[in-house]
Formats: sequence, C-alpha cells, structure tokens
Amino acid sequence: MKILLTGSAGFIGFHLSLLLLNNNNEVHGIDNMNNYYDKKLKLSRNKILKKHTKFYFYKIDINQKKKIDNIIKKFKIKYIVHLAGQAGVRDSVTKPELYFKSNIEGFYKILEICRDNRIKHLVFASSSSVYGNNNKIPFKEDDNTDQPLSFYAASKKTNETMSYAFSNIYKIPITGLRFFTVYGPYGRPDMSLYKFSKNILHGKKIDLYNNGNHIRDFTYIEDVVSIVQKIIKKIPSKKVPFSIYNIGSGKPKKINDYIKEIQKQFKKKIKVNNLPLQLGDVLKTHSSNNLLNKELNYKPKKDINYGISRFIKWFKKYHKIN
Ligand SMILES: NC(=O)c1ccc[n+]([C@@H]2O[C@H](COP(=O)([O-])OP(=O)(O)OC[C@H]3O[C@@H](n4cnc5c(N)ncnc54)[C@H](O)[C@@H]3O)[C@@H](O)[C@H]2O)c1
Repeated sequence: MKILLTGSAGFIGFHLSLLLLNNNNEVHGIDNMNNYYDKKLKLSRNKILKKHTKFYFYKIDINQKKKIDNIIKKFKIKYIVHLAGQAGVRDSVTKPELYFKSNIEGFYKILEICRDNRIKHLVFASSSSVYGNNNKIPFKEDDNTDQPLSFYAASKKTNETMSYAFSNIYKIPITGLRFFTVYGPYGRPDMSLYKFSKNILHGKKIDLYNNGNHIRDFTYIEDVVSIVQKIIKKIPSKKVPFSIYNIGSGKPKKINDYIKEIQKQFKKKIKVNNLPLQLGDVLKTHSSNNLLNKELNYKPKKDINYGISRFIKWFKKYHKIN
C-alpha cells in the first residue's frame, strides 16, 4: 500500500510510519518540522524512518497544496493519514491563530486534495478534547461534542464537521480518530510524562494543576498505531462514508496515581508546585471502546505500568542518563 502520511516526524506519525514500513508499505511522509517543541526530537525520529528504503520524506507545510498534489499524482497514492496539526490545549489559549492556520486552513487543503485526487480513504486525527466536560462517562462516539473548552478542541470538532460534509457531498471515505492522551517512547516534550521525567531527573519541582485531581485515559502508543493500521484498511461504505472512533485505553487514571507510578519507577520523589486548573483543560477523559471493539475487535493490551517503564527506559537512553 502507498500511503501519504502527514506529521510523520511527530510522535504518533513516527510510530505509525515505522509500523507501516515494517509491514512493507510505502510511506510518503510530510512534515514542516516546526519548533513547537525541540526539533532535535523530530530529526531523530526522521533519522530512524529514513533508514527504510520505502520511506520518502518531504519537508513541506500541509498548506502547500500544489506540492502535495504533485506527490500524490507522481506516486499514484490513494490513501492519506493526516496527523499533522498544531497539538496541545494550552498553547491554543495564547496562540489560537497557529491552530487556525494548521488545523482548520491546512485541514481544508487536505480535504480538497482528497476530493481532487479521488482518494480511497482519508484517516485523520481528531481528539478526545471534543467531549469537553461531558458528565456522561465513558465518552461514546455519539455523545454531544458541541461545547469544546479550548480552541484546540474547537479546531478538531471543526475537522469532524468539515469532513462529514465533504464525505456527504463528494462521497470521500473519511475516518476521524479521537485520540485519548497517547504516550510512550519518543513522546512529546510538552506532555506530562516527559515533563515530569525531566524535572524528576533534574531535582526540579513539577507544575501540578488542580492538585493532581484530573483524570486521563492514557493510551499506549503501540496499541494506538496497531489499531490505526487496521483502520486504514476499513473503508467506510455507508451512504455517507464517514466514521468516527475513540482510540483510548478505557482505563482512566488520576494524575496523582500516575505520578505515584512514575516516582516508583524512578525510585525518586517528585517535588510539586501546585497551580490552579488551567484554562481550557477538561477534568476527566474516559473512552468507551465498545464501537471499535465491535467493529475491529480492538482490545488495548498495554497497561500503564508497562507503558511508563518503556517510556522511562527510552527517555534515559535518549538523554544519555544512567
Ligand atoms: N498525542 C496525543 O495524545 C494526541 C491526543 C489527541 C489528538 N492528537 C492529535 O494527533 C495528531 C498527532 O499528534 P502528535 O502527538 O503526534 O503531535 P506532534 O506535534 O508530535 O506531531 C504533529 C506533527 O505535525 C507537524 N505539523 C504541524 N503543523 C504542520 C503543518 N502545518 N504542516 C506540516 N506539518 C505540520 C509537526 O511538525 C509535528 O511533527 C495531532 O493532530 C494531534 O492534535 C494527539
């Protein structure tokens, strides 16, 4: 299979590219290599991908439609996985324009590309943040998603509605994935596990919001990419060929308990700087995996202790810490 994968130097994009390449697919990776977080991490992920002969990399922005069109035509690509985007809830409070440019304008370009090239399946990253502070637990795909608490969440909800309309009018098969706090080796430096690990090792305090009473459905990267690989081949065929799936572990954990596990594994105590709840943050996420389990026999396998230990092992090696 030939796949155009945007955001290939990003955390999820890197792991998914690697899995697809290991299974003998041809991956055309696109990334603008922006500096939202340390570019070195993106470069080191890219270095690993470039060892594969069936990996092609293009340093371009998703807004450069003509360039992407040319790649698709030249290699006769029929599948797109769109993971490029401005991630993170907190920056969307101070810099919403970045989210508009990549997540809304850029997303629209991807839709046009799919329409103009008769793409067989577009799979794109949405987010659990679309559920806002819904009280009904666990979150199901058909629950209300009309009250996004951040502009990031709003941009993802916008992607879902834009793509539904494109799917309805132009009959483009599209699947949106609501990822729930994905973590693991090569994870993002702006996410809690990375930040906590860094501060523990440097003996610095961690910023803890809301007394650590948040609850998150942490989902291990291997579980995520193995199901996404299956989803690429599951092309929606309903009248409006559009699907949405939650991708979570279904086992939410309180941040305080998460921290206890990290402390245990580092054998070090975390010092805490208590801060109030952040603007835009949701209190709890909890994925219902029923739909994905029913349709694709999805059963996440990796528990949090395993996931944290894999992350810490990678983190120490990557930063050359004994
Ligand atoms: N990691 C999570 O827990 C999580 C949860 C929910 C949703 N998501 C979504 O999944 C997707 C992947 O997330 P991730 O954790 O791998 O994030 P990431 O930031 O590591 O990866 C995104 C990649 O896209 C690239 N990019 C951003 N804007 C671009 C543009 N305009 N043109 C080209 N490339 C661009 C970045 O350079 C980056 O390498 C994102 O859309 C994110 O919003 C992630």
